[in-house]
Amino acid sequence: TTISKYVTQLVIPPAMPPTRTQHKLDYYEIAVRQFRQQILPPSLPSTTVWGYGSINHPNTFNYPAFTINAHYRRPVRVKWINDLVDQNGDFLPHLLPIDQTLYWANPPGGIKGRDSTGTSQDPYRGPVPIITHVHGNHTFDFSDGYPEAWYLPMARNIPAGFAREGTFYDVFKAKSPIGDQWGPGNAIFQYANNQPANTQWYHDHTLGITRVNVYAGPAGFYLLRGGPGDLPPGRLPGPAPQVGDRPGKRYYEIPLAVQDRSFNDDGSLFYPNSRAFFDGFTGPYAPTSDVPPIWNPEFFGNAIVVNGRTWPVQEVEPRRYRFRILNGCNTRFLIFKLVSNPLAPRPAPPALPIWVIGEEGGFLPAPVRLDQLLMAPAERADVIVDFTGLQVGTEIFLINEAPDGPYPGVPNSFADPATTGQVMKFKVVPLVSQDTSTPPSQLRLPAFHPLGPATNSRQLSLNEQGSVDFPDVSPVIQLLGTVQDGEPNPLRFGAPITENVALNSTEVWELYNFTVDAHPIHIHEVRFQVVNRQPIGGGTRPPEPWERGFKDTVIAPPGEITRVKAKFDLPGRYVWHCHILEHEDNEMMRPYQIVAGPP
Ligand code: C2O
Ligand code: CU
Repeated sequence: TTISKYVTQLVIPPAMPPTRTQHKLDYYEIAVRQFRQQILPPSLPSTTVWGYGSINHPNTFNYPAFTINAHYRRPVRVKWINDLVDQNGDFLPHLLPIDQTLYWANPPGGIKGRDSTGTSQDPYRGPVPIITHVHGNHTFDFSDGYPEAWYLPMARNIPAGFAREGTFYDVFKAKSPIGDQWGPGNAIFQYANNQPANTQWYHDHTLGITRVNVYAGPAGFYLLRGGPGDLPPGRLPGPAPQVGDRPGKRYYEIPLAVQDRSFNDDGSLFYPNSRAFFDGFTGPYAPTSDVPPIWNPEFFGNAIVVNGRTWPVQEVEPRRYRFRILNGCNTRFLIFKLVSNPLAPRPAPPALPIWVIGEEGGFLPAPVRLDQLLMAPAERADVIVDFTGLQVGTEIFLINEAPDGPYPGVPNSFADPATTGQVMKFKVVPLVSQDTSTPPSQLRLPAFHPLGPATNSRQLSLNEQGSVDFPDVSPVIQLLGTVQDGEPNPLRFGAPITENVALNSTEVWELYNFTVDAHPIHIHEVRFQVVNRQPIGGGTRPPEPWERGFKDTVIAPPGEITRVKAKFDLPGRYVWHCHILEHEDNEMMRPYQIVAGPP
């Protein structure tokens, strides 16, 4: 079956309604549930997915989730509920195959939060652990969604002997000032929003199964506005949906979550259930083989989904629009371009520029005009596209020119122009209201305050290893680690913590990528500046023009050292990891600590 493009309207995620707006904070009760949604065009079947929604408003459950609107220095408190149960209150099994041989949450393992042996080659069919992380939020560790702080749904049929929570659930419950309010099947996190305005997103982060949890749907935008790091209202097109907007309101600020997915003929999500999908390897597996039988090192879907619809179309007026773009793919890097002919031979001639005004950590020092925009998984871009002056009826296509495979890929390899090389369509309609926003070329962005000098630097490594049991099999594991005397020292997630950062210190992290692919590296707690990049043994080059603000996820190219600088200003235990979800799930993640030092 081919999926017709541009038959479905883009869905702009509405605002998540708070459960209560209190004197000092906004309080939400947000659950993950299973439901069906028409992701494919209406002539094709609907899809069973998971998504977040407010338990007080049953029609808010959506993939991707409704947007949480946060305001500078106004805290948001969320009771995050694992509600993956059926009408009888029995747990729902996972929609997708879980590989039990990875180091994963593993409720039946009995050891809370970790798998000691994990030799089963069968997918796990038990209740599903969940833990939510707000990516890009500056918060304490007990509210950060640590991968081992997961919890099961409150289901009546949890088998005896199962761990209902990961090890760190209890640790953080004891540590959180509101931990006494946490109950079975939930955790309550608080976000102070004491950081510059930026584009955040929330998603599942459970140890060893984030790739399948997020692929099933639970993710949404969290937009922080106001304060000295924002522009006055009206300067930019917008805002995106707010609680209480009248139906049919037109939006000039639109969040776009771009993801790749594959579908079975019955409309269900396809995700590989065997290593054979990746390289044809089917075993035989020894009981303790180092080749995971189900996990795949990468995943590339064959359909593009924007805000939960395949290849949607959006009507635009001839005026400026602000898009908050998220690369929400598991593995796929995207190179966006705006063109007139989506099937033009690659590289296609650009039809309109993309003005980047911000990235993960907030606004750039100044707008940057680009013909194309590279985004790795989990990166966000805040962009202006100016449709002013275009004839009514004009069609502009957002395309993708990154490869259908690992990035950077071989030169001149482009995603299939007929499928994954297209993203969405804009169709120009008559102007309804005057555009009073500032043109991007004249836009002055909020004052940029760079970090002070670093007091320490660390050498860290990105590594990949082949199989010992089956030397013919391509890399089976990616690992982070340290560097000792220029040599990589790969470490698993469970190895003792090697990064103890002094509270309030500013450090440079030098990421040595010893692998053959680019990896998007995300460090929790902080926003960082990209200092420079350098081929191992070569000369340095400055960050790309669109990387000169604050970021929380950075592309570490193969064979290079990527340097980032951050101030570590909240004490606690966090993680840093590759945001290729398949890598993150199989050891390309490390815990680190920010510790209050001697006075
Ligand atoms: Cu978007 Cu640690 O994650
Ligand atoms: Cu990676």
